[in-house]
Amino acid sequence: MKVRKAVIPAAGLGTRMLPITKSMPKEMLPIVDKPVIHYVVEEAIKAGIDDILIITGKGKRAIENYFDKSFELEFYLREKGKEKELQQIEEIGEMIDIYYVRQKKPLGLGDAILYAEKHVNNEPFAVLLGDDIIISKEPGIGQLINIFDQFKSPVIGVEQVSWESVEKYGIIDGNKVEKDIYQVRDLVEKPSRKQAPSNIAIIGRYVLTPEIFDTLKESKPDKRGEIQLTDALKYLITNNQNTIYAKEIDGDRYDVGDKFGFIQVNIEMALRRKDLRNKLENYLRQYKLLEGSL
Ligand code: G1P
Repeated sequence: MKVRKAVIPAAGLGTRMLPITKSMPKEMLPIVDKPVIHYVVEEAIKAGIDDILIITGKGKRAIENYFDKSFELEFYLREKGKEKELQQIEEIGEMIDIYYVRQKKPLGLGDAILYAEKHVNNEPFAVLLGDDIIISKEPGIGQLINIFDQFKSPVIGVEQVSWESVEKYGIIDGNKVEKDIYQVRDLVEKPSRKQAPSNIAIIGRYVLTPEIFDTLKESKPDKRGEIQLTDALKYLITNNQNTIYAKEIDGDRYDVGDKFGFIQVNIEMALRRKDLRNKLENYLRQYKLLEGSL
């Protein structure tokens, strides 16, 4: 069955980006002039997704407003003859069918995914976490959908990370079956460096099958009181003997949920923009010369 639906969990509190996330969803933080979630939606669309469910939570209204049509703004831009801006704003309001459901309590990623059960309606589906932005020729999630089409089993997006940072991720243990593709043997959520079976980390892109829902319902909260998607995937392998694959995603990944990653992706994306590149390069060069004065 074709993967045509995507789920974007956007209910998290964004504690790593406080204080800005006190009154603003982390998904609405700007990368140059578009919010993080816009890039994630674009990635899904480029991969052939035509239906998106965003799992929101308290204080996330700005996301719905962003993707909504804005008649007043469009009217104003038309009146003023601002054609370029008008086209951009119209396009956002017409991008794709986006649906919303609210997670009632912040009980973790696994619990958020459970809210998608009715909408997904027994189809395989993609999951994209907004903390990870992937800049690549072929959309990150599209790379996983291709593997799903080949093996008809769930696929997790992964990347090798430094051993110092394994404790920030879900980590897999797997057998390499092809270049960049593993059959997953085990998974562990945020292990210590000592406990980590490898340094191959889950990077917020998944293609899942509906079996995950029953497993999530059975999952017990971890010591932080959260239901982990990683634990449910582990259960599928160890108890249900399901096969799960992992694919090293080809592209540059940025962790925008982290202050450094957020600044990094803003600089990188600005450098890719024709209208900003020269100015920014000059500025950075000049800044380097002035370094000593800080
Ligand atoms: C979540 C997942 C984790 C994954 C990470 C990628 O963690 O639980 O397995 O490695 O996303 O960004 P979070 O960063 O939401 O704590």
